[in-house]
Amino acid sequence: MTAFADSAALKDALRRHDYIADDEFAVVVHLATVLDRPLLLEGPAGVGKTELAKALAAAGGRKLVRLQCYEGLDDSRALYEWDYAKQLLHVQMLRDRIGDRLAAYPDLADASRFLAEQDFGLYSESFLAVRPLLEAVISPEPVVLLVDEVDRTEESMEALLLEILAERQITIPEVGTFTARSAPWVILTSNDTRELSAALKRRCLHYHVGYPTPEREREIVTARAPEVPAATAAEVVEFARTLREMPLRKSPSISEVIDAARAATVLSAHAGDGSIRHVRDVLLAALLKYTGDVTLARTRLDGTPDPEESVADVPPAERVTVASRPANTTTAVFRGRGGGGRDTARVGARR
Ligand SMILES: Nc1ncnc2c1ncn2[C@@H]1O[C@H](COP(=O)(O)OP(=O)(O)OP(=O)(O)O)[C@@H](O)[C@H]1O
Ligand SMILES: [Mg+2]
Repeated sequence: MTAFADSAALKDALRRHDYIADDEFAVVVHLATVLDRPLLLEGPAGVGKTELAKALAAAGGRKLVRLQCYEGLDDSRALYEWDYAKQLLHVQMLRDRIGDRLAAYPDLADASRFLAEQDFGLYSESFLAVRPLLEAVISPEPVVLLVDEVDRTEESMEALLLEILAERQITIPEVGTFTARSAPWVILTSNDTRELSAALKRRCLHYHVGYPTPEREREIVTARAPEVPAATAAEVVEFARTLREMPLRKSPSISEVIDAARAATVLSAHAGDGSIRHVRDVLLAALLKYTGDVTLARTRLDGTPDPEESVADVPPAERVTVASRPANTTTAVFRGRGGGGRDTARVGARR
C-alpha cells in the first residue's frame, strides 16, 4: 500500500494508471487521503468521477470495494445479509445428530423448547454474506470504498452511510459490533439528481469535477487511446468544446470524446487524409445522444438558420428552456460552465 508524499506524487501515480488529474483536483484527492475524510465528487456524466476511485485504488495498491447505489438499495445489499442457503446446508448436515438428541424428548413442546435453547452457530460471522459497506469496514487491509451515484438512493440510506462513515463501526444485532479493522479511503460520486443532505456534505470534502481544459482532454484521449494521432485528438477535442458551448440536452462527455477520437482515427486512416472534417456526421453521432441535439449542432455548425425555428412565432410562456427539459438533468445543472444559458428560447422553439 502506498501513501502519497504530496499531491504531485499522487498526480504522477494516477497518471501511471492513465488517469489525468489537474493540480487542483490532485490537491483535493491528496488531502482526502491524508485527512482520512470521505471525498464527494459531483459533476456531469462521464467526466471521470468513478474512474478516479478506480485509478486511486490502483495507484495506492488498494482493493476497490464498490457500492453502486440505486433507488431501493437496502441494508441487505449495502451492508450484509444472512446466507440462508449456507445456514440451511449447515442444519441439514447436523440433522442426524439433532434427531438423536431430540429422541430424548417425546413431547413436542419439550422438543421445541430444547431446539430453541440450542445455539447451532448459525448467526456468526461465517454465515454472513458481506456487502460492500461491511466489507470496507472489516477488511484487514485498507481499501478504497467507492459509493457510486449516491444521489440515486433514498435519504435513509444516506443516513446509514453517514453513521458508518462517522462511527467506523457496524452493529449486527445477532453478532455484535464490528469496529473498523482498517481505514478506507472513501469516494462518493453524485450526478446531482437530488440535493444531498447537509449532514453528508459536511462530513465530506466536496469537489466539483467539470469538463477538462482542452489541453488536459487531449492528454486524456492520448492516455486512453494511444492509437489516436495527436492532431486528431486535438481536432476532436476542439470539436467537442464547440459542441459544449451549445445549449444541448446532453453535452459530450470525456468518454464520448474518446470514442469519437477512436472513430475518427479509423475513418481518417481509410480516407487517407489526416483530417476529421469529412467525418463530421459520424463524430456528431458519437458525441451526441439525442437526435434533437444532432440537428441543432448541424444547423449551428453550418451557420444556416433553421426555418422551423422562429422564436418570434412562439409565445414566451410556451418556450421551453434547457433547464426545464426532462431528460438530462445533469447537463442542465452543470452546464453553467459551458455557456449553455444563451439562446434557450431558440432551442425550446424547435421541440
Ligand atoms: N481524468 C481522466 N483521465 C483519464 N480518463 C478519464 C478521465 N476522465 C474521464 N476519463 C475517461 O472517461 C470515462 C468515463 O469516466 P467515468 O465513468 O469515471 O465518468 P463519471 O464521471 O463516473 O460518469 P457518470 O456520472 O456517468 O458515472 C472513463 O472510463 C475514462 O476512460
Ligand atoms: Mg460514474
